Amino acid sequence: MSDLIIPNHVAIIMDGNGRWAKRRGLPRRLGHKAGCDTLERMVEDCADTGIRILTVYAFSTENWKRSGDEVSALMQLFRFYIPRLKKRVMAKNVRVRVIGDESRFDEDLREGLRDLKESTREHTRMDFVLALNYGSRDEIIRAVRKIGTEAAQGNLLPEEISEELLSSYLDTADIPDPDLVIRTSGEERLSNFLMWQSAYSELYFTDTLWPDFDHETLMEAIKAYNSRERRFGGRKGENDE
Ligand code: FPP
Repeated sequence: MSDLIIPNHVAIIMDGNGRWAKRRGLPRRLGHKAGCDTLERMVEDCADTGIRILTVYAFSTENWKRSGDEVSALMQLFRFYIPRLKKRVMAKNVRVRVIGDESRFDEDLREGLRDLKESTREHTRMDFVLALNYGSRDEIIRAVRKIGTEAAQGNLLPEEISEELLSSYLDTADIPDPDLVIRTSGEERLSNFLMWQSAYSELYFTDTLWPDFDHETLMEAIKAYNSRERRFGGRKGENDE
């Protein structure tokens, strides 16, 4: 038996689909398709590994700026993979949640997401959080607008605005902060992903391209997380930095 500490919440920036395709002389769309296959496997793998929350950056607020062809290819993939993911999460007792502004997606996609969330709401093994049309700056602005409205209506005093209050207005309101944030493909940036929530998270970067990410790469990230946990003598937090 391994004595590894399994992080409670793992968040992943799934990067490198385009380069994976390019290396094989394939269209980018097929890189994203391979990325979707990897995601399907990882949902099961993370649940089996004992991770309690998996958040993935599936579509960012910036992704709309990609070519029309690529955006529609991604939307088509979401349409195709949502029912497939449903089968997996139903079988594995996984609850699906969505963060980000879903209102910009077509109605059929939103209906698919609603169904995915509704059908899994009682599931308890792992939370699978899909970040869709998500960007931290957008999330924080939406939260601050709501807080501003409350303040303008006299329901809130400026001095009542605290870290806890702002957190409670974010899309992740009742989701604990990530312990480990993984980014694939060698890029070492957060790119507007969970910027508020990852203030104290361990960051792990791997050169592996997302479609090649597998159980072994996941375990390497978890081992690195463990060695840092040991070095710092336990979970890091506001009091020890
Ligand atoms: C980044 O690779 C990846 C994306 C923009 C999309 C990630 C989405 C998935 C893997 C699928 C999610 C699926 C569902 C069903 C929610 P890139 O195109 O930036 O790669 P590059 O940097 O090599 O060009």
